Amino acid sequence: MFNKSALLVAVTLALAVASAPPPAETVARGTTIPLPKRSSLTRADGVFDKDKATAATVNTINKHRQNLINLKNNLGIEAFNPGAEIKDVAHLPADVEARLLRRIETRQSEPLIDEQQDVEWAGNVTIATPPQRFLIDFDTGSSDLWVPSSFCNSTTCARKSKYTATSSSTSVPNSGEFSIQYGDGSTVSGPNYTETVSIAGIHVTGQCFSPVTTLSVLGLAFPAISNLRTNPWFITAIIEGAVAVQQFAFHLAESGSTLYFGGTDRSKYTGNIEFNELPNINPRQFWQLSGASVKVGSTPAVANFNTIIDSGTTLAYGPPDAVARLFAKVNGSEEFPYNKGYYTYPCASPPKISFNWGGKDWVITAENFNIGQTESGSSDCVACIVGADLGLGDNVWLLGDAFMRNSYTVFDLRQMAVGFATLA
Ligand SMILES: *[C@@H]1O[C@H](CO)[C@@H](O)[C@H](O)[C@H]1NC(C)=O
Ligand SMILES: *[C@@H]1O[C@H](CO)[C@@H](O)[C@H](O)[C@H]1NC(C)=O
Ligand SMILES: *[C@@H]1O[C@H](CO)[C@@H](O)[C@H](O)[C@H]1NC(C)=O
Ligand SMILES: *[C@@H]1O[C@H](CO)[C@@H](O)[C@H](O)[C@H]1NC(C)=O
Repeated sequence: MFNKSALLVAVTLALAVASAPPPAETVARGTTIPLPKRSSLTRADGVFDKDKATAATVNTINKHRQNLINLKNNLGIEAFNPGAEIKDVAHLPADVEARLLRRIETRQSEPLIDEQQDVEWAGNVTIATPPQRFLIDFDTGSSDLWVPSSFCNSTTCARKSKYTATSSSTSVPNSGEFSIQYGDGSTVSGPNYTETVSIAGIHVTGQCFSPVTTLSVLGLAFPAISNLRTNPWFITAIIEGAVAVQQFAFHLAESGSTLYFGGTDRSKYTGNIEFNELPNINPRQFWQLSGASVKVGSTPAVANFNTIIDSGTTLAYGPPDAVARLFAKVNGSEEFPYNKGYYTYPCASPPKISFNWGGKDWVITAENFNIGQTESGSSDCVACIVGADLGLGDNVWLLGDAFMRNSYTVFDLRQMAVGFATLA
């Protein structure tokens, strides 16, 4: 069983070490990495992609289910949000799965399409010595680093970079293993290595990770939800003095998206950053803020809930009853019969929906609110806010890119806060 106080010490130590000035020669300045556009839930013709949306929701449910399993193993269920529970694995309906598989197979027969087509907000990360390069999703909603292994020989790994431990002089095998449950209920496990992991000039030497699956993810949340029970890369970078400023910040946009490590990129926002502190629960788990409220125009809809800010989730999710109360205030909105928890609204009169944590109203623009027409030629559109019980707690919303696209979003490990600023 994992030692809770050891975890707490690890996080406290990270922050104590980091507040001392790090040795100058090892400090990279803040650095920007470009993120290619995330694959979209809207088809090229502007119509909502029902199957991809179903898959996105299933993935989101299972990802956070795994976070709760990790949290239970690390700290026990006492650490859960009120009402949180580990639910059954979510499954894709068989017909949806068959259609999506056909699409992947069709695409893989096209030689010019590369791995970037599959990925979300991904950027270049190198692991090992000499460096092996990976395109990795940066995920503020999880805490582990995992990439495909050279042992992955399935078709889904065919076009991906794979980690080969035997080609690296800095590969150190550790005890223990990474083990997660997939959407189909199968368990996938992989070894636990320490390696050198570099992103845009920030070199970290003692990073634990696992070469295991077809996916590449770099978690940016806290050790409490780590499956490997280790510090996420950015915390390792702080402990090793590889970054001077304990912040990273996302600018997510239609094109030209960036992630900045080691501060903020002043050219991406105007005015001040509104910092909202994480509640003082130790150790921290998610980038979760309390005291949120949401309005439709100037009409309050739901108040006093928690929000997890998750760059690894495409949409925004709330508890089904709370989301129903929100859409009750949206003129012309209806539940979408084809996708559970989704709502439609008249494309011509999008509501102005805003979230607030006690400061400014942070509005979801009409463009970001719309994830596509219900059908070709329809005057109804599907909304980016979805009702789903993710098991994260009675009063917890999950705000993904649909929300993050509307402001510059800063994750601050010194103040333990999430900041929002107006996009430049
Ligand atoms: C990753 O690095 C490769 C090789 O240097 C480069 O061609 C590619 O554009 C980079 N991708 C991103 C997203 O930065
Ligand atoms: C793929 O790898 C598995 C496990 O390493 C092995 O059992 C299987 O034979 C391999 N398949 C192919 C086509 O190489
Ligand atoms: C992975 O290795 C690290 C470093 O030795 C260790 O702290 C961690 O507990 C290991 N993870 C597991 C799941 O055993
Ligand atoms: C909804 O429609 C009513 C009646 O047309 C109107 O008074 C109200 O302002 C509309 N609400 C919003 C949020 O657009």
